Formats: sequence, C-alpha cells, structure tokens
Amino acid sequence: MSEIKKPLRVLHFSDIHVGVQIRHMAWKKWFSKRAIGAINLLRGRAKYFDEAEEKIAALIRFKEENNIDLVIHTGDYTALGLESELKLAKQLVSPLMTPPQRYVTVPGNHDIYVHEANSHYRFSEQFCAVLQNDLPEYCRGGHWPLIRLVGDDVAVIALNSARPNPWPWRSNGMIPQVQLDALEEILQDTRIKDRYVFVMTHYAPRLEDGKPDSKLHGLINAEDFLEKCKAMKAGAILCGHVHKTYHIKVEELNIDIYCAGSATMEGHEGFWVYEVEKNILNAKPVFWHKETSCYSY
Ligand SMILES: [Fe+2]
Ligand SMILES: [Fe+2]
Repeated sequence: MSEIKKPLRVLHFSDIHVGVQIRHMAWKKWFSKRAIGAINLLRGRAKYFDEAEEKIAALIRFKEENNIDLVIHTGDYTALGLESELKLAKQLVSPLMTPPQRYVTVPGNHDIYVHEANSHYRFSEQFCAVLQNDLPEYCRGGHWPLIRLVGDDVAVIALNSARPNPWPWRSNGMIPQVQLDALEEILQDTRIKDRYVFVMTHYAPRLEDGKPDSKLHGLINAEDFLEKCKAMKAGAILCGHVHKTYHIKVEELNIDIYCAGSATMEGHEGFWVYEVEKNILNAKPVFWHKETSCYSY
C-alpha cells in the first residue's frame, strides 16, 4: 500500500445511482415497490443519471490526478437494488477500490430497496472486498459498525442507516440502537479517540438549512445520532441521500456535517475532497464542468 503523505487526502462521493435496466427485470419483481420505482424511472428520473458512467470515469481520472489516499462512498449505488445494477456499479467504481483498505462504503436505501431475504446479502456479496473491519469486536450485526484505521491519524466509522421501506412514498432510514451504543464505546477507545474521526452513514442528520429532513425521507433517529457524535474530539459526519453537495455546522453541538450530494445527477453533480492534518480538516467542494466533461475544484 502506498505511504500516506501529509496532509491525508480523502475523496467523498455518493448517490451515483447507476445501471437502470428496467427491460431486463424478471416479471415477478414487478409485483413490489420496484414496480412503482420503475414507473418513476420511466417517467423521467432515470434521465438525470443517463451520463453516470461517463461521470464516474471522470471521477476516477480526478482521483488519479489528485493524490487521493482514501475514498469514501456513502451509498445509493443503484436505483432499484437489482443484482445486475450492483454488479455494474461495482465494476464501474472498482478502479477506486484499490487498495481495498483505502475504500470505505455503506449501502443506501436504493441498494436494499425492497424486503427480500437476500437484499442485505446482495450488497455485501458485491462489496465484500472493501468491507474489512479493523476493529471487528465492535460489530453489532452484519458488517456494522465498520471501522477503518487510516495511517496513524485518521479513523473512519461506518454505520448502516439504510433499510428496505415497504411503501414507495417512504424512503426514511434509521441507525439501529445497537450501532449507536457501539459508536459511544468506539469514540472512547484509546485506538480511536485521539485520531481525526469520520463518522459516515447514508442519511443526512440535518439538511443544508440546519433543520432535520422530513419524517418520510430523513433519518428517524437523527437527534440520537448527533448526541452520540458529540463525544468526537476532532471529526465530522459524512453522508449522502440528499442530492446536493453541502456543509453545515450544527453550532449547538459543535458538529460539522458534509453531504456529498450526487456525483452523477444531471445539474447537481458534486463531491468533496478533505485534507486532514494535525486533527484539522480543510474541505474543498468539487463540481462537474459540462463543457470539458471533467470535475474540478
Ligand atoms: Fe440517492
Ligand atoms: Fe438514498
């Protein structure tokens, strides 16, 4: 693995929503929430992600040209959580997953879209190479929380807040209480507490205006999550789900939240690059330039 130079550079992207292949869906899968999701896509949503592959290729070039040490993706690789979409997404982002210890991810609600016996397994199956946990003793179900120690100064704690929603008009999420309790312990661990900590999950605990997201779209236990994050000595919350690149500081809790937005959604393309040195974060937003088909600061 390449040595980490200082400052450590982190690329945080999200919500790429690739590979909608409605015509290839098995007929049985249409009798579910996917049918309504698919109709929405046919009615227009899919066109916003038409150029996802080209934009991911540009993002890979950006990573190669900008000395990135660590890549973070905060979920929503797909639109309907189909195995074919997950496979395509993994194939497209695989150049970012080298070495696997320097790529950290969580699923989004679209990646485990409907209740099926294998919906969680399907995500893990595709992304197992990058789900290595450096402190597995804190794992409280599935792979989560997943902790990655990066060099001597940075740690990433990944919590899973995505779950299938039975009703198509609901896309909210929740971090299970066992993961929040584990987070409290992890932040006190001597191997973690003096590092700069990124706590990442799919759902945004606050919107750009500082308010919580709606009950139908947001993180149900956002306030409990923020309360646990107060124990971070130096760190930030990273999220996606909201397709807008933004940063807010929750002043009353002294917590920074960075939402990556969507790296591929037409008209909204963006992501973050963070530089970390001596427990200080310098964040730079990166945006898509249509005329030159590339991302730049
Ligand atoms: Fe999304
Ligand atoms: Fe989402």
